[in-house]
Amino acid sequence: SKKLLVDVDCGVDDAQAIMLALAAPNVELLGITCVHGNTTVENVCKNTLRVLQACNKLEIPVFKGAAKSILGKSLSAGHFHGQDGLGDAPDPDAPSLDLVQKEGAVSAMIRIVTENPGEVSLVATAPLTNLALAVRMDPSLPSKLRGLYIMGGNTESRGNTTVCGEFNFAADPEAAYIVLNDYQCPIYLACWEFTCYSKLPWEFCDTWLAQDTDKARFMAKIFQHSIEVSQSERLQKECVGGTGFISCDSYAMAAAVDDSFITESDHYPVSVELTGTHTRGMMIVDTVGFLENAQKAFIMKKVDMEKFKQMMMAALK
Ligand code: BDR
Ligand code: CA
Repeated sequence: SKKLLVDVDCGVDDAQAIMLALAAPNVELLGITCVHGNTTVENVCKNTLRVLQACNKLEIPVFKGAAKSILGKSLSAGHFHGQDGLGDAPDPDAPSLDLVQKEGAVSAMIRIVTENPGEVSLVATAPLTNLALAVRMDPSLPSKLRGLYIMGGNTESRGNTTVCGEFNFAADPEAAYIVLNDYQCPIYLACWEFTCYSKLPWEFCDTWLAQDTDKARFMAKIFQHSIEVSQSERLQKECVGGTGFISCDSYAMAAAVDDSFITESDHYPVSVELTGTHTRGMMIVDTVGFLENAQKAFIMKKVDMEKFKQMMMAALK
């Protein structure tokens, strides 16, 4: 079976990605590490526990990580995911934060990967602060990974958070820079524009949520807020490639779960802009050959959308 370790800032699409992984056959989820991002790291821990509860998987360990970026800032994406990160839907039965492990996320990441050398696929669907700290603590960590799957960055300088910045990279540009530089292992990127071009039709969304299961009812409840925001005019402008719903984080997860999910990718040196008046946090793709020392990443271009729909459907079964 495939071993996954997942780093999240549990907003709505992180929740969808986690549920996709939990439903996938032959996947073992070794743990979930939490980081600031869509909401506070405390909310992220709580949201992650709520998702696990909805799937009857509370035995999966949840670890709390960085509360802020490397430079001490934090953004939030409350306008999109709701202030609590999961659509501000009331949940009187939410599990207690006491269930969060005592061990911190960064040490857990290093320990779990070291216990399973060469076997773990690390999936990061959030600002990369925990991953950056982990590689500083243990520079050999990347060499022990099977692969690293990231939702983040952009390829056409289109932003969703700043004019040129995708949220996960813009929320901690230094961390994104460190990770792209120092994770010497196969890196797969689901970048913002790619996710925009790979939307799921709203009709699919209706069928998806209409499944007669507790998981579908849970998803319908936490997703309502982002559905409304997604259909607003502002969001339509932010997202190239027509209408539909984007489960950004689920693409990175699907790629980690199924090796044949990516059907076409580019392989270029990548980096992150750290200064720049408008461009801080923007991903740089070197298609020419200037960045000789930069690491190459696989940048997703096309994926098996039929498979994606099946995995998404299964997530709520
Ligand atoms: C990313 O930002 C977050 O709001 C989403 O969860 C996703 O990880 C998209 O830019
Ligand atoms: Ca996320």
